[in-house]
Amino acid sequence: MMNHNQLVFKLISAKETYTVRHPVLRNGKPLSSCEFNGDNRDTTFHIGVYTNNTLVGVASLLKANNTTILDVFAYQLRGMAIANKYQGKGLGKKIIHYAETILKEKGVLLLWMNARESAIPFYQKCGYKKSGNIFDIQNVGPHMVMFKKLN
Ligand SMILES: CC(C)(COP(=O)(O)OP(=O)(O)OC[C@H]1O[C@@H](n2cnc3c(N)ncnc32)[C@H](O)[C@@H]1OP(=O)(O)O)[C@@H](O)C(=O)NCCC(=O)NCCS
Repeated sequence: MMNHNQLVFKLISAKETYTVRHPVLRNGKPLSSCEFNGDNRDTTFHIGVYTNNTLVGVASLLKANNTTILDVFAYQLRGMAIANKYQGKGLGKKIIHYAETILKEKGVLLLWMNARESAIPFYQKCGYKKSGNIFDIQNVGPHMVMFKKLN
């Protein structure tokens, strides 16, 4: 656990992420649409950021190589979401930094994600680079692969 003023970052379960995942990433869709393949694997972990005991941001990290970028020990970021009222206050950047710290300790060399087109500038601010072209993820919209080398 890590304190950032009144912010608390901790590891949470996949199900606990739903209170943020659902309204932010799957708004209007059934709760079951919040479940990701691999959510409960031993190698997967989920981060929550709390303020005043309320979960306001989540991110999930899944072990997944991406040989089109680099054939090394890699993780994929999924389900990155900050509750609507709390966006634009630096929480997203802090959660990414927290995830990178844990991944570096595990010896992970590459973190990548399918970034929503609207989130590309955010990931660039966090030091991520674009890879390839925009592609469509059914029912979710246009995305681009982005990555950062760790360690
Ligand atoms: C994208 C998201 C995770 C970013 O988290 P956040 O807490 O709002 O972002 P932060 O406040 O940490 O922003 C960090 C930096 O990125 C910039 N930024 C954030 N979102 C941006 C955007 N859409 N366009 C341009 N810049 C953006 C901020 O201005 C800030 O810049 P600075 O470091 O120069 O001050 C959050 O807004 C969110 O959950 N959005 C909806 C869901 C989503 O798109 N998730 C990502 C799916 S891949």
